[in-house]
Order: sequence, then C-alpha cells, then structure tokens
Amino acid sequence: MKVGIFSDAHKVGAEAARIVIEAMNGATIRNLGVATGSTPLNLYAELRKAHEEGTFSLADARAFALDEYVNVPEDHPERYRNVLRTELVGDDKTGLKDENLFTPDGNDSDSLVAADRHDAAIRDNGGVELQILGIGSNGHIGFNEPGTALTSRTHVDVLTRQTREDNARFFDDDISKVPTHCITQGLGTIMDARSILLIATGSAKKEAVKELVEGAVSSFWPATILQMHPNVTVLVDKAAAELLTRTDFYKDRWETL
Ligand code: F6R
Repeated sequence: MKVGIFSDAHKVGAEAARIVIEAMNGATIRNLGVATGSTPLNLYAELRKAHEEGTFSLADARAFALDEYVNVPEDHPERYRNVLRTELVGDDKTGLKDENLFTPDGNDSDSLVAADRHDAAIRDNGGVELQILGIGSNGHIGFNEPGTALTSRTHVDVLTRQTREDNARFFDDDISKVPTHCITQGLGTIMDARSILLIATGSAKKEAVKELVEGAVSSFWPATILQMHPNVTVLVDKAAAELLTRTDFYKDRWETL
C-alpha cells in the first residue's frame, strides 16, 4: 500500500486524476471502477478538464459503479446512476457513453438478481483495471458496512445509521429520506480489481484512515481488507492523515518508489 499525503483536497484530486489518466491511457482493458459521494468530485472535475484539453477520454471505456441505493426514483438526482451521469457521461464530460456506464439496478423488483447481474457484468467484461474508492467514516468501502464478510460478492445490504446520517446532506438533511438499503459491490468483488485508488479527505475520515493503513485486518473496519491487495494507492489530505504514525516512511516510499 502506497500512501500519499497532500496539503488539501484539491491537491488530492489533482494527483488522483494524474493516476487515473496514466492508468487508463495505458490500459488494455479499459474498465474503470467509479465511486460516488463527495470525495471523488475534485477528481471527476479534473478528468472533465483533461477531456476538454484532449488528454483523456472514456469514449471507448466502460465504467462500473460501486453501489446504488435501493428504491430511489429513476429521476432522483441522488440516484447514483444519475450522479455518475452528471459527472462523467457525454462528450461534454469525459466522453463516457451512457450504455457503457454499469450501475446495479436498485429499482429491479428483485434486488438480489440485480446484485448478481452487476457482479457478472464486471466479470464478463474482463474485470476492473482501476477501482476508485472513497471511504466512510466507519471504514466502509462501497457500502460494505462493518461486519460484512471480507470475501463478499455484490449483494444487497442495509445501511448503518452512521452512513445514513453522513449521507443525509444529500437528502435535504433529513435522515428519514435517506434510503435504508443498497446494492453494493462486495469486498471480494472490489479486491478483484487489478489496482485500487482510495481517496479520503477531511478530519471526519481520520479514524477510518488510521485503521485502513495501520490497523489490523478486520471486517469491523471493512477497508482494512485492502491491506491484502498488492496494488493499492491511498491519497489523503493532512486532515484525514492526522492519526497516522509512520508518515516519514510513507513520504519516503512515495517519493522514491
Ligand atoms: C460511494 C461509496 C461510499 C463513499 C463513502 C464516502 O459510491 O461507495 O463508500 O465513498 O461513503 O463518501 P463521501 O465521499 O461522500 O464522504
């Protein structure tokens, strides 16, 4: 695991974009795993800028979402498919085509089948080259909440109260409007990606980042499973890095590897 510590969220976004552009421009299987939430928004803005400048395009690529809420109306702006459309789809964004954006169907009458279908779509299209991840304040990745099996595949789950409180800001600050269920790539599904880029910014993430980088592998801090993956880059700002203890070594490794 490589850890890069940057002064602020904008620098994290710029570095994340550099890594995504380099990885996708060199990839033979042009499949990108995409996260939603606030953290990747700087990164997506940088990708749109690079597309406008002609140095990056997802026109011939596929994007696979990490997760989706269950039973959010099709036209709701916070439905993750719509968030990702707004950020990435179209020639005025990154060139990604709508038919090449794969999201779990949270409105399928059978969510279990929809979850299996998403897992199969990733596998059948050759897997994910680079998976972008954020991290929840409770250490979730995707919506794999504490206690999720470390080998899980894409599945239906219940959101914790903590996650619903954290995400109420997207739903008029009203927790009763935040969906209770989701479909999420499992931890085993995420671990199948050839490389992983996790970004975390702000002090609300400092405990989760401490566990991710320096804690013991445990389903109670689901992101710690990434310690078992051979190709993970973690980008954090100073606030999210506050509890890390081996920062001199992370810096040496960052600068020399
Ligand atoms: C989103 C996702 C979540 C978020 C996490 C952090 O697709 O899978 O794991 O990455 O909840 O969200 P933000 O970035 O809003 O703090």
